Amino acid sequence: MRNALKNLLSRLPAEGLERALAYAMLRQTFADLARSPHFPAREALWEEAARRLGGSDTPVTVVEFGVHEGASLRWFAQRLAHPGSRFIGLDTFTGLPEAWGAMPAGTFDTQGRAPVIDDARISFLPGLFQDTAPALLEALRGSEERPLLVHYDADLYASTLFALALIDRLGRPYLAVFDEFTGHETRALRNYTQGWRAEASFLGRVLWRERWPAQVLCRVTPGR
Ligand SMILES: C[S@@+](CC[C@H](N)C(=O)[O-])C[C@H]1O[C@@H](n2cnc3c(N)ncnc32)[C@H](O)[C@@H]1O
Repeated sequence: MRNALKNLLSRLPAEGLERALAYAMLRQTFADLARSPHFPAREALWEEAARRLGGSDTPVTVVEFGVHEGASLRWFAQRLAHPGSRFIGLDTFTGLPEAWGAMPAGTFDTQGRAPVIDDARISFLPGLFQDTAPALLEALRGSEERPLLVHYDADLYASTLFALALIDRLGRPYLAVFDEFTGHETRALRNYTQGWRAEASFLGRVLWRERWPAQVLCRVTPGR
């Protein structure tokens, strides 16, 4: 009987099971998220993140994993106007490195070009996160005391888990915004907090179809 069940399970579509897992994790692992404040749109949630960072009165660091055409990075740079603030955007600029649900690899391709934004505080690290990781750690040296916001907007499980583990190496608490939480990013945060003994405390969410957390704001505290 057990063998028959295992045999049946081995035939179920792994990708479908992973999608289902995200919904189970939302209810079971991240139950606190449902008690966090609700914001009407992602800009309202970003505003809450900017307020918590200290707004334009404070020099802050913003790291964005997944830039595409720069819509979200532009917003943060405009809202966090302190001349000492720094914004670092990471992207292949050739699109998603693997398929994300119905979206094939290469979606969000900008022909290798980073957005042109007239703001010297913004810099880009083109390439896979996995390849530009050393350059990011180098760029972040000396900013240990500043408030840090990390915008996780890579959509994919593997990219998000890698990015979470990379920022974990800084060994400091920070604010995180997830842009497509229900799905790949739910699993990435679950596996990261479990594997790296980190904590995520939820500070806000924006709901998709009035039910499912799309954008999520939290404080991440790496384990010791
Ligand atoms: C949804 S888009 C970002 C949207 C953007 N933040 C905005 O608000 O307009 C996701 C981006 O993540 C990038 N990405 C995903 N995984 C990556 C990886 N491992 N390395 C580099 N870029 C990656 C893709 O190239 C894509 O441009």
